[in-house]
Amino acid sequence: MILEIREITLRFGGLEALNGLSCSIAPRQIVSVIGPNGAGKTTLLNAISGVYPLNSGEIFFQDRPISRLKSFQITTLGVNRTFQQAQLFANMTVLENVMVGMHPRTQSGFLGGMFHLAGERREEKKIQEKAKALLNFFGLLAKADWMAGHISIAEQKRLEICRAMAGEPKLLLLDEPVAGLNIRETEAMGDIIIKLKKTGQTIILVEHNMHLVMGISDWLIVLHHGSKIGEGRPEEMQKDSRVVEAYLGT
Ligand SMILES: Nc1ncnc2c1ncn2[C@@H]1O[C@H](COP(=O)(O)OP(=O)(O)OP(=O)(O)O)[C@@H](O)[C@H]1O
Ligand SMILES: [Mg+2]
Repeated sequence: MILEIREITLRFGGLEALNGLSCSIAPRQIVSVIGPNGAGKTTLLNAISGVYPLNSGEIFFQDRPISRLKSFQITTLGVNRTFQQAQLFANMTVLENVMVGMHPRTQSGFLGGMFHLAGERREEKKIQEKAKALLNFFGLLAKADWMAGHISIAEQKRLEICRAMAGEPKLLLLDEPVAGLNIRETEAMGDIIIKLKKTGQTIILVEHNMHLVMGISDWLIVLHHGSKIGEGRPEEMQKDSRVVEAYLGT
């Protein structure tokens, strides 16, 4: 298992957003976390990526406890994410956004490359080539020089994943990557996520689009009121009475 979540509880005031949740994530799989609005899905991603401290429990990434680490330390270990609301640098180019994402993996750092400090031009060139290869993978190379705020929402969603992948994560967390996209754009995103999995990427996907989730997931974890009410293969969960009642039936 690449990630082990052991009995984690996370409270906001009196509200238990996560309530003694345990689950584990197998490598090289697409594991989807589903459940009604407010179930705790985004909170789970926030807990894994160190945005909020746990009230109790522990999270192990590659057998190492991470719940007391800072977000940037967890990123450095190999966990990257996207956000429910895309968080791009709108006034930077598409290419620059991806180069920013490479920061944790480069020696002299992105800022050094930006300001052309002595001896760092060669590294900057390397970073640029890698960023372009990634943009190509995500079908965004033609938009490399566009301002990130000027490309379509669907392209911004792809760019966010591209930037997260620039950090070479071992675990990628996606929060609603197709929210607001039309059917064609959703299918294209599904194809990209499958293509990522084929490279060996481990992915945790939070998504309400059940057509996408059921089509591409290896495993589902179903949350309701901060607790796990079921987990299993998509076809099993579609027949699970608790899961259908709490979420899928609606
Ligand atoms: N920073 C916060 N402060 C206070 N309460 C919060 C905070 N973040 C989340 N919550 C609450 O925790 C609960 C779980 O929220 P969360 O965002 O994890 O739900 P979700 O499953 O991602 O829902 P959605 O499908 O709508 O995105 C909700 O009741 C929410 O209002
Ligand atoms: Mg959410």
